[in-house]
Amino acid sequence: MSQNEEVLSYPLPYDTALSAPAEWERLRAKCPVATIELPSGDHAKLLTRHEHVKGLLADPRFARPKAGDNAARVAPEGTGGAAANGDMAQTIPDRGEGHQQWRRLVGKYFTAKRMAALRPGMTEIAERLIADMVSGGAPADLKADLGFPLPVYVICDMLGVPAEDRHRFSHWSDMFLSTSRYSQEETGKGLAEFMQYMSGHVTAKRATPTDDLIGMLIRESEEEGQGLTDAQLLSTAMGLLVAGHETTANMIGKMVAMLLVDRTRWERLLADPSLVRTAVEESLRFDTNLGFGLRRYLTEDVDIDGQTLPAGTTVVCGMPAANRDESVFAGADDMDLGRSPNPHLTFGAGPHSCLGQALARTELQVVLETLLRKLPTLELAVPERDLRRVEGLLVGGLSEVPVRW
Ligand code: HEM
Repeated sequence: MSQNEEVLSYPLPYDTALSAPAEWERLRAKCPVATIELPSGDHAKLLTRHEHVKGLLADPRFARPKAGDNAARVAPEGTGGAAANGDMAQTIPDRGEGHQQWRRLVGKYFTAKRMAALRPGMTEIAERLIADMVSGGAPADLKADLGFPLPVYVICDMLGVPAEDRHRFSHWSDMFLSTSRYSQEETGKGLAEFMQYMSGHVTAKRATPTDDLIGMLIRESEEEGQGLTDAQLLSTAMGLLVAGHETTANMIGKMVAMLLVDRTRWERLLADPSLVRTAVEESLRFDTNLGFGLRRYLTEDVDIDGQTLPAGTTVVCGMPAANRDESVFAGADDMDLGRSPNPHLTFGAGPHSCLGQALARTELQVVLETLLRKLPTLELAVPERDLRRVEGLLVGGLSEVPVRW
């Protein structure tokens, strides 16, 4: 690093929970490969242009940092522990042929046909949760009442877990994702209970094949002559719960907040609900708080924007900054609910891109359709400046989304 090179403190500052950091525009234009200091004090490189972020994420040579990589740490040791420096990938095969094989197999579940088949069940869940929220009276926290439970119930349906056990999954997921609310002992106990529950579940599925994800994995992997072990099935179930719950829960809250904070957006959707699909995509693009940004560890030298980044560098891909790149999105700082095409990078890109994106999209569409239909008078119960951010590693969110109707 040259002596007078600028080092930015990361994450970058922002004005309100929904606003974009002012720095993004300058960085994209003038300093697309910026040096940043992470909360741990370690340095990394930050990419903010769409072409660079997409290019690096799609490069099959590189993956998320793993233990032993000597990558820049996100948080100092001892603050938030593994959840702060590791990520949801701990239970998912990491790289190489094993990872691709796992993806091919699990990816078979997320077909358009199956997503369409899940819609009626999801709509029913959304309707019931909204009715419960309404019966509790306004104001309510839409994130807690709808955002948090819906995706975990959907994952339970996907895994073939009966409805009466959903609350246990909700509790386990909360426990696996929280960095501070539970003691190590409690988390260890929760993990053991989850594993015990899931092994009973897998044994039952082996005996009586079913059409849910676990049933499909047992069948497909045996047909391909590479039957997954019980341990692999358990870690897949846990990986999907961890990857698919917090992300979607937060996105539901942020999407609704972004659409309500400017009433003309909500009214446009009420007038033309056929915009729901493109509005969901635009919410995914427009979100300024996608968490920390995806990290990649360079195992070889790479040239980006005329600079050689040496092997051993940790790069943070700034997806939300890339999602505002004017060279790809005309009027990038306007939320255009009809925008199409919309090649945002919110689900990542390349060999590690979000495997559950078809499911996440379906959930967001169902939530939005159902809210427009059931609660057309929905509005935020607080001004934008009172919304608070929570910064997660994979996806950031709002601590609460207070609403009334
Ligand atoms: C709005 C909600 C969601 C967002 C924003 C999101 C975002 C992402 C992103 C950015 C990645 C890439 C990580 C990387 O490259 O390091 C990812 C990976 C992944 N996501 Fe999602 N996700 C969402 C919902 C879901 C759901 C519902 C599921 C499944 C139930 C899921 C399953 C996965 C899995 C398994 C991976 C790992 C893929 C791999 O490593 O090959 N996600 N997600």
